[in-house]
Amino acid sequence: STINVILSGGLGSRLWPLSRKSRPKQYLPIFEGETLFQKTVLRNRSLCEQVLIVGNKDNCHLSQKDLESLGIKDYGEIIEAAPRNTAAAITFAALSCQPDDILFVTPSDQLIIPDESYESAFQRAKELAEEGFIVTFGLQPTRPETGYGYIEADGEDVKSFHEKPDKNTAQEFLDRGNFYWNSGMFCFKASVFLDELAHFEPNVYLKSLQAFQQIEGNRLKEDISLEIPSISVDFAVMERTEKIKVVPAEFEWSDMGSFESIYEYLSKQGYPTDDLGNMVIGTKLHTEFTGLTNTILIQTEDAILVLKKENAQDVKKIYERLERDK
Ligand code: GDD
Ligand code: MG
Repeated sequence: STINVILSGGLGSRLWPLSRKSRPKQYLPIFEGETLFQKTVLRNRSLCEQVLIVGNKDNCHLSQKDLESLGIKDYGEIIEAAPRNTAAAITFAALSCQPDDILFVTPSDQLIIPDESYESAFQRAKELAEEGFIVTFGLQPTRPETGYGYIEADGEDVKSFHEKPDKNTAQEFLDRGNFYWNSGMFCFKASVFLDELAHFEPNVYLKSLQAFQQIEGNRLKEDISLEIPSISVDFAVMERTEKIKVVPAEFEWSDMGSFESIYEYLSKQGYPTDDLGNMVIGTKLHTEFTGLTNTILIQTEDAILVLKKENAQDVKKIYERLERDK
C-alpha cells in the first residue's frame, strides 16, 4: 500500500519564542485556525491509503488531539523516546511497513497549497518509487537560503545533492541555475530506503533496528534509542545515494522553519513592513525601528526576540542555550 509517513518529532527550535517545547510550531493553530500538522494530514489523505505518524513522546498527545478534532481515528503511530533526527525516524516507519510498501514521507512544518500540480508530482514520484528510486521534490529557489538542501538536476536525474550549504555556495547554486531546493518530502519503497541506509550508515541502521525490535506497543525505549547516531536523512542518504531522482514541482510551498521563511510568506500575503523592511510579529504595540534594516521583532506573552532576517538560522542556538541553562 501507499503510506503517508508524517514526521512530527522536530522541536521547531528556530521559531523560538513562538514555538516552545510544550508546543512545537507544527501544533500552533495559526493558519486559518488549523495547525500545520493538521494541514499535512488533510493534504495527503486522498493520495495515500494509510497515515503513519512518527513523533516524540513529548508531543504525541498534540498529534492525537489534532487528529481527534479532525475526526480521524484510523492512523498508525510510532512514539520516539528521544528525538534522534530524521534518518532514524524514517527507519522506524520503514521497518514497521511491508518491504514493497510505498512511503510518502512528509514533514509537518510546511504550508503547501494542494493543487493539481501537487497531486501530479506525487503520482510521478510514486511511479519512480515503484521502479526502485528514492524520489525528492524540487522547488524553484528564490534566495540563497542556507537552511535547505539543494538538488543539482538534469531533468529528473540528480547530479548531486547538497544539504544546507553556506551562503556563498548557496548563491553559487542560484547563479548556476540548474539547482532546486529540496522540499523535504520523499517517496520510496520501504526496502529500497532500508538497503541504502544500511549501506551508507550501517550503525544508524543497526541501532534503529535494535530499538525497533525492543518496541513496546508503539513506544520506543529510551536507552537503546540514545545509542542511535543523530543524523538527518539528507546527510545520511540523500547526499550519497545513486538511486535518487527529482520530480520538479510547481505547487505553492513555504517551509515555516525559520523567521526568514515566515517573513517571506507574510510579505507575500501583504503583511506590512516599514520602508527598510522591518517587521513586527505578535504585538499591536506601536513599534519603531531606527538604524535597522530587515529586522524582525517577535513578541509573545513572556518573551521578545529581535533578529536580523539573515540571522534566522541562529535562533536555534538561542533555543539550545536556554534549554541547557534551564
Ligand atoms: N519523528 C521525528 N523525529 N521527526 C523529526 C525529528 C525526529 O527526531 N527531527 C525532525 N523531525 C521532523 C520535523 O518536525 C520536520 O517535520 C521534519 O522532520 C524535517 O526536519 P527539520 O528539522 O525541519 O529539517 P530541515 O527543515 O532542517 O531540513 C529539511 O527540510 C528542508 C525543507 O524544509 C531537509 O530535508 C532539507 O533538505 C529541506 O530543504
Ligand atoms: Mg523544517
